[in-house]
Amino acid sequence: MEADDLTLLFEVFENTPRQGPGSVETTRRALRLLPDSLRVERVLDLGCGTGGSTIVLAEDTGAHVTAVDIHPPFLATLRARAEERGLADRITTVAADMANATSLGAGFDLIWAEGSAYSIGFENALRRWRPLLRPAGCLVVTELVWFVAEPAERARAFFAGEYPDMRDEATRIGQARSARYDLLGSFRLPADDWHAYYAGLEAPLRDAISRRGEREIYAATRLERAIYEACGDDYGYLCLVLQAVAAST
Ligand SMILES: C[S@@+](CC[C@H](N)C(=O)[O-])C[C@H]1O[C@@H](n2cnc3c(N)ncnc32)[C@H](O)[C@@H]1O
Repeated sequence: MEADDLTLLFEVFENTPRQGPGSVETTRRALRLLPDSLRVERVLDLGCGTGGSTIVLAEDTGAHVTAVDIHPPFLATLRARAEERGLADRITTVAADMANATSLGAGFDLIWAEGSAYSIGFENALRRWRPLLRPAGCLVVTELVWFVAEPAERARAFFAGEYPDMRDEATRIGQARSARYDLLGSFRLPADDWHAYYAGLEAPLRDAISRRGEREIYAATRLERAIYEACGDDYGYLCLVLQAVAAST
């Protein structure tokens, strides 16, 4: 994607409630799959966007959350949201590349990555992030996957361009195990999360078009939605709740 397209896209997403499919209910569902014995005091939310998950994590776990994103304006919105909810002292925002996350420290109890791992490669992300966890720490990641072996041609062709490394559920689970995580649980994000995401995109997209004129990247965003509406049974987000396997096993 041209840098210019990326700038245009960031501009749209600065004004959306979330930057990818997800919801408060989905974040909570994943939290419920963590072991009761897991003490959660330090959380790292990678690719946090404007903090759809960060706020829930801080509120529900009582932990300190380090929220990381490469796009500083998203973090400014997150800081304002944290302030409004009285969470400013428990959320630290860091503008950084999550591919080089070692500078963020180590010994985290929990790493959270909703819809963001793909941007540095799913397997690469799982391997790079593991050393940041304390022993038996957990990782929750959502990832776009194929639900069927033979997806509709329209969807297949679209994602061949947008996400050529998209895989099926079993492959991602296998990769997580190879990267030395145990699978504690998994579920597919509900269709409601997608509908809410696309509904939240409508006004910012209209606004962007009225300011900037029609652009290819806006058309691609509308096409993505049309493909979801036509072929959304063939693919979606998988949430994986993982735990680092102890070093000696
Ligand atoms: C699909 S959005 C998901 C945002 C948020 N987790 C949510 O569910 O609403 C992916 C996010 O990852 C961020 N991102 C992409 N590549 C990144 C990188 N290398 N380092 C840090 N953040 C990155 C983007 O800026 C964006 O906010």
